[in-house]
Formats: sequence, C-alpha cells, structure tokens
Amino acid sequence: MVKIAPSILSADFANLERDIKQVSSADYLHVDVMDGAFVPNITIGIPVVQSIRKCTDMFLDVHLMVDKPARYIEAFAQAGADMLSVHLEADHPTRIAQALDIMGACGVKKAVALRPITKAEAVLPYIERLDMVLVMTVEPGFGGQKFMEEQLETVRQVRALINRYNPACELEVDGGIAPGTAPVVIDAGANVLVAGSAVYGAEDIPGAITALRGNG
Ligand code: DX5
Ligand code: ZN
Repeated sequence: MVKIAPSILSADFANLERDIKQVSSADYLHVDVMDGAFVPNITIGIPVVQSIRKCTDMFLDVHLMVDKPARYIEAFAQAGADMLSVHLEADHPTRIAQALDIMGACGVKKAVALRPITKAEAVLPYIERLDMVLVMTVEPGFGGQKFMEEQLETVRQVRALINRYNPACELEVDGGIAPGTAPVVIDAGANVLVAGSAVYGAEDIPGAITALRGNG
C-alpha cells in the first residue's frame, strides 16, 4: 500500500489549519524544517510543529534539514512529531547514531535522509533500527523543483538493502513527485511519496492525493 505525505511547504502558512484539513485523506503530513545552514532556505521550527499538533491527528513526518540535528530531537518530539528524519550529511556518524538513540528514548519513529550525493550504502550502519529511509529526488531546500531521474538508482539500491536487512522499514521519496513520476518511484521500490506542489497546486486536492496513490 503506497502512502502519500503532502508537504505543507507548498501550503499557505497564513491558512495552515485550513490547508492541513484539505489533505486529511493522506497518510502522513510532511513538515519541512530548514535552518538556513544545512540548506539555504529557512522555513518552520518547533513552535509551528506544536501548533500543528493541536489542530490535527495526522501522523507528523518531520523532515529535519538542519545541521547537527541531535540538538533538536527532544524538542521536536515534545512538540508532537511522530517521526523525525535526520540527514546523514548533517553530522558525524556517531552524532547521527546519537540522534537515533534520542528518538528511541523519546518514543518517536526514526528515519535518516539522503541528499542526492549520498550513496545508498550510507544507510548500512543504521538500517536495522530505522523505521524509514528518505531518499531525496531533488536537492533539499525548495519545493517545486524538477525530479532527478538519476536518483531512481539510489531508490532501487536502498530498497534492496531494506529488503535484505529490515523489510519493515519504509522507503520515502521527496522532491518532484507528481502523477508522472509517482509510478516510476513506486516501481523502483518507494512506498511513501512526499508531494508538495503536486498536491497544493492542484484544483482538486483529494483527487490529486488519489491520483498519486495510483493502484498501489
Ligand atoms: C524540499 C522538501 C520537500 C518539498 C517537496 O527540500 O524536502 O519536501 O516540499 O516539494 P515538491 O513536491 O514541490 O517537489
Ligand atoms: Zn521534505
């Protein structure tokens, strides 16, 4: 079963509650946190996650595009995140492992994210304890970018590693996912699709979510 995770990066932040309700037929709500250092953009932080938690029961999939994310795990968990993704490029391996330990202690689901430059094998030290791997299919930082075809190979390789070492682990793709690219990433092994502009840019938002799911 394919899951859809609309990204509120493409929502109207002045009408966030309304825009969250519009995607209630989806599976996860994807929240992009950017610090202006790991990526050039700055988006939302802990107080906004706290407010989102008060207005929805949706599963909050929080994508941390921040340097040294171990510093913030506890705060995002307390704010109401259900799952946290930390980028493997954002700190030394020991500190990434520590971030995962803190997630475990806080009772949130654990994920690592890969920028396009990062090889699939980079997940190996962590894979057995992950709930999800997030493979970026654009350079992180902005919504509305073009899907990077060359990332399909990384998706396939991560899928093979998941099947071998931790079949329960989910595989999420993020960036440029639209009705045209969804079947291709599903075929490559993804089971959670993030979509910002393809959902919030659509006239019929529930229809766009259904279209992205396909027959999966
Ligand atoms: C980009 C973010 C994405 C973004 C996707 O750095 O991580 O989640 O919102 O936007 P679309 O679906 O428009 O490519
Ligand atoms: Zn994201």
